[in-house]
Amino acid sequence: MSTLSEIFPGIYRLDGKLATKNFAPGTRVYGEKLVSARNVEYRMWDLFRSKLAGAIAKGLSHVPIAPGSLVLYLGASTGTTPSHVSDIVGEEGAVFAVEFAQRSMRDLMDVCAKRPNMMPIFGDARMPDEWGAALEGHQVDVLYQDVAQPDQDAILIRCAQKFLKPGGYAMLCIKSQSIDVTLPPAKVYEQVLKRLEAGGFETVQTLILDPYDKDHMFWMGKRK
Ligand SMILES: C[S@@+](CC[C@H](N)C(=O)[O-])C[C@H]1O[C@@H](n2cnc3c(N)ncnc32)[C@H](O)[C@@H]1O
Repeated sequence: MSTLSEIFPGIYRLDGKLATKNFAPGTRVYGEKLVSARNVEYRMWDLFRSKLAGAIAKGLSHVPIAPGSLVLYLGASTGTTPSHVSDIVGEEGAVFAVEFAQRSMRDLMDVCAKRPNMMPIFGDARMPDEWGAALEGHQVDVLYQDVAQPDQDAILIRCAQKFLKPGGYAMLCIKSQSIDVTLPPAKVYEQVLKRLEAGGFETVQTLILDPYDKDHMFWMGKRK
């Protein structure tokens, strides 16, 4: 008999491990294990493959992504974390998944084809004017960003001003090595946080993702 508890809306602990309800039953996205419990299929969520899962394991106090949320996801890659976000938001929510690498986009489109709440957007997160129409005028509840670029805070601020509801949450995976290899990670984080706060955010929580991801800080903030 499995032990199952909902630790945040739409996020479960199943036999001691993180899991989400599979929104596309019978299908896997990245080779993850599928487990049935009480007649529902869950996807085990790998802490080493997904920074959001790592952040939850490291003590994220609150997960603003919940059933029914509209999420803009920048840097969707082949859909590993976005697919768990799709599981969480469910049929009442939506994930607008932006990716600019053609190769990743092909796999992402296959994932989205099985998940009607996921919209693939082929575009550069730096240029929201080019793809913003795909959101059909929606303002999102949560902006999630994992693009590993030197200007990742500027990208977040620009997209938040256009698409994030006032009072909405942003989550950013800050990769110190992509921003400045010459500075110690703590100094890079300090500078990024200052810029995010000057750009209209209040910091809610920060977490160092080690050992799940080296030299990464997970930042959660609220748009003022
Ligand atoms: C670390 S991977 C993302 C992994 C993914 N978030 C996950 O957890 O499953 C970063 C992705 O961001 C994409 N990326 C980087 N810069 C981008 C940009 N300016 N616009 C859109 N995508 C970008 C890369 O092509 C890559 O697929």
